[in-house]
Amino acid sequence: MPKLIVYMSKHGTTRKVAQALEAEMGGDTQVVDLQHDAPPDLDAYEIVVVGGSIHAGEIQPKVKRYCLENEEKLLAKRLGLFICFMDQNRGVEEFVNAFPEALRLHATAIGLMGGEFLFDQMNFFERVIVRHVAGVKQDQHLIDDMAIHDFAQQLCN
Ligand SMILES: Cc1cc2nc3c(=O)[nH]c(=O)nc-3n(C[C@H](O)[C@H](O)[C@H](O)COP(=O)(O)O)c2cc1C
Repeated sequence: MPKLIVYMSKHGTTRKVAQALEAEMGGDTQVVDLQHDAPPDLDAYEIVVVGGSIHAGEIQPKVKRYCLENEEKLLAKRLGLFICFMDQNRGVEEFVNAFPEALRLHATAIGLMGGEFLFDQMNFFERVIVRHVAGVKQDQHLIDDMAIHDFAQQLCN
């Protein structure tokens, strides 16, 4: 069954999650980075995953646009939606804000996959924000492997 994962990532964490999902979902899964690749025609896929990361409360605008522009086709797929994020108190709210209501209600799998703070990937301003707003001084690795596994199981079984 052909499967597609469409994602965007700022510092590489959502890419790692998309790759982990690809491994869980099996060989016929195509992974597309919206930042660099043109998204393929959705007609070829039965299962579609859309994911992105939260920065300053928002998912990447391109991910939002992709969902809106393809809403009708996505509503006809077996659909998975996920975010990477680090604010444990706001994950659900951020997920709700990230994706259109119709897609959230239609989705077979929703994923709050955790995230990472990677200081060597941040620019000066991002480092200042993470240090002073989040109060984090060093790298953190909080990707939720169980959430990735459960998401793939729900979607593909
Ligand atoms: C400058 C900055 C702002 C962030 N803002 C938020 C936020 O508002 N809410 C949140 O849950 N996580 C926030 N995060 C955490 C990211 O969602 C997390 O680092 C995620 O793993 C990034 O994934 P990516 O590398 O694929 O973009 C922020 C991270 C950075 C560096």
